Amino acid sequence: MSVTPSRVAIFGAGYVGLVTGACLADLGHSVVIRDVLADRIEALKRGEIPIYEPGLAELIAANAERIAFTTDVREAIDGADFVYVAVGTPPTYSGDADLSAVWNVIDELPAIDRACVVVMKSTVPVGTGSKVRHRLDERGLVQVGYASNPEFTAEGTAVADFLRPDRIVVGAFREEDGDAVVALHAGIESPVVRCDVASAEMIKLAANAALMTRISFINEIANVCEATGADVVRVAEGIGLDRRIGPSFLRAGIGFGGSCFPKDSLALKQLAANSGYHFQLLNAVIEVNELQKRRVIGKLHRHLGSLRDRRVALLGLAFKPDTDDTREAPSIVLAGRLLAEGAEVRAWDPIVDGHDLYGVEIAASPAAAAAGADAVVIVTEWPELIDVDWASVGASMRTPVLIDGRNLLDPVLIRAAGFQYEGIGRAAGPPED
Ligand SMILES: NC(=O)c1ccc[n+]([C@@H]2O[C@H](COP(=O)([O-])OP(=O)(O)OC[C@H]3O[C@@H](n4cnc5c(N)ncnc54)[C@H](O)[C@@H]3O)[C@@H](O)[C@H]2O)c1
Repeated sequence: MSVTPSRVAIFGAGYVGLVTGACLADLGHSVVIRDVLADRIEALKRGEIPIYEPGLAELIAANAERIAFTTDVREAIDGADFVYVAVGTPPTYSGDADLSAVWNVIDELPAIDRACVVVMKSTVPVGTGSKVRHRLDERGLVQVGYASNPEFTAEGTAVADFLRPDRIVVGAFREEDGDAVVALHAGIESPVVRCDVASAEMIKLAANAALMTRISFINEIANVCEATGADVVRVAEGIGLDRRIGPSFLRAGIGFGGSCFPKDSLALKQLAANSGYHFQLLNAVIEVNELQKRRVIGKLHRHLGSLRDRRVALLGLAFKPDTDDTREAPSIVLAGRLLAEGAEVRAWDPIVDGHDLYGVEIAASPAAAAAGADAVVIVTEWPELIDVDWASVGASMRTPVLIDGRNLLDPVLIRAAGFQYEGIGRAAGPPED
């Protein structure tokens, strides 16, 4: 399919807005990205990318002549064929999604005298599209179309995920609006799922819930492995080779975090509850995840007794590798719990500067974080941790305890380096021969 260049306005210069804008520009479209944060827009105009996402800076630079940045709504909308909404939808105190930024975008839209389509990229509760449609109609923007085009990219691989997605989901009220959104993706060879707006909204929430369910499932299997002497890494390999199950999202660890899974699970839970349905499985998935983050503290207690005045090094602050995102990261929960237990916490991360982590000392390297510590905890599976000289790190510690929260390291090698090693769902001591 050949590309007909379109003019795309994107509201929100965050992880999703910037990746969407860069990728649509790369497909040949002309993009204007608007944010309310003047500093962020000024930085982008100078060529500084405010987030860490592999390949994003290069893609924006390569398509610079087709990407503009502004804080001005009219400048963004002028001549636009599509208005993408990519603003945050964080949880409110009740767990419902906070849609205030979405409503701001809709209410800020000026009178538009040409055909264009509002495309919802933000993750929103089922039913939001209908409400937006109603609001557009109320405002006299009847000719403005609406489509739900949820985002499935994962931070760390977002550019590749956008350009080679497993599927593109488009839900629209009018056939022609859906057709237009599909045509905008010409050049991407992926299956397209066309559906109604409510189903598109639910596909996003259900996909995330399915992934979280797998994580909590394997984490519970890991906990039973610990109690029974099985090794969850082997178990995951063994069940993942079953084609009905598949290998992805079967890595046991200290729980999921990030800006999407925790908030989207809460939003779906509340959406169900508000509709009169008690989503028991999802409630359990969320609870298992919360407990999983805290199990590390139990492991530290077993090795060190009281944690008061003990020094613990947290290796990794981002919620996963290749991102600088610490929203809802297990590192935040762990740091908070450790400080509450009276421990001294030092942390290292190759990307996150950690300046906002109150009470946590930030170290320049894994070795510096671990020096003199009573235990190190691998919180994020940054690949550079594999190549650390663990023998010399262990020698510099007060007690060489290593809790591998991501099962990143080889237990045999780490024990040979002098550590008391504990992973997640792996035999606590050396395997019996
Ligand atoms: N981060 C991800 O990997 C990911 C993946 C899939 C879906 N999503 C969803 O996409 C949405 C955006 O997530 P994100 O991580 O990019 O958020 P983000 O917080 O990184 O970025 C949102 C941006 O929107 C801006 N904004 C707020 N109000 C605005 C307005 N009226 N006009 C223009 N800009 C405005 C904010 O200043 C911010 O820069 C959320 O609903 C999220 O759940 C995120």
